[in-house]
Amino acid sequence: MMDAGKVEWLAGELDAYTHWFAAPDASTGGHFLTFTLFAESDDTARTARDMTAVFLRGAGADAVVDDVRLVVSELVGNVVNHAVPDRHLAQAGGCRRIDVTFKLWPKWLFIGVGDEDSTPPLLPAGEGFSPSLAGELAEAILPDTGRGLLIAQRLATSVWWAPEERGGKTVWCRFDLDGTAGDAPPS
Ligand SMILES: Nc1ncnc2c1ncn2[C@@H]1O[C@H](COP(=O)(O)OP(=O)(O)OP(=O)(O)O)[C@@H](O)[C@H]1O
Ligand SMILES: [Mg+2]
Repeated sequence: MMDAGKVEWLAGELDAYTHWFAAPDASTGGHFLTFTLFAESDDTARTARDMTAVFLRGAGADAVVDDVRLVVSELVGNVVNHAVPDRHLAQAGGCRRIDVTFKLWPKWLFIGVGDEDSTPPLLPAGEGFSPSLAGELAEAILPDTGRGLLIAQRLATSVWWAPEERGGKTVWCRFDLDGTAGDAPPS
């Protein structure tokens, strides 16, 4: 039997996903943006960060700009560093595409970073070491890599991934805003 707090939390989660699937409709007053970058460009991560800031400021979500820019930067960096396109999507000498999506409605910000590689990201599960080992030992046991998705998990409300029908996948994050951004339907 789940306790009342857990039930309430779960209902909130389901509500968020249900609204997202049911309602991305510009007439509701939400804010949406999707754009494609190429992993081989010199300024891919910077462009992604800049676009993130422009989108969020335009949507009145200034409060989360720094956190979301960092998360987008990590997810885009992961495509650049790790994505190997599925065989049927790969083009000889071609660029790898990165599809970035923002959906803000009404108080949930969904961020998707899609690539052409069907391999799932390795999402960290729980703490990597006991808190009792932190302190003077921390520097010795903290890994140099494998931190990007951990950062995303810490900053976002949730992080997950989904395969795409055409191949490849999208890594998604959800941030819960305070309800003041993007919630006013056009009058
Ligand atoms: N878009 C992706 N495509 C394929 N594999 C991925 C993708 N994103 C992450 N991964 C896998 O998940 C692992 C964990 O990603 P994470 O960002 O946490 O660490 P990292 O990229 O290895 O290191 P860091 O982000 O600290 O530089 C990666 O090492 C990689 O194996
Ligand atoms: Mg990374």
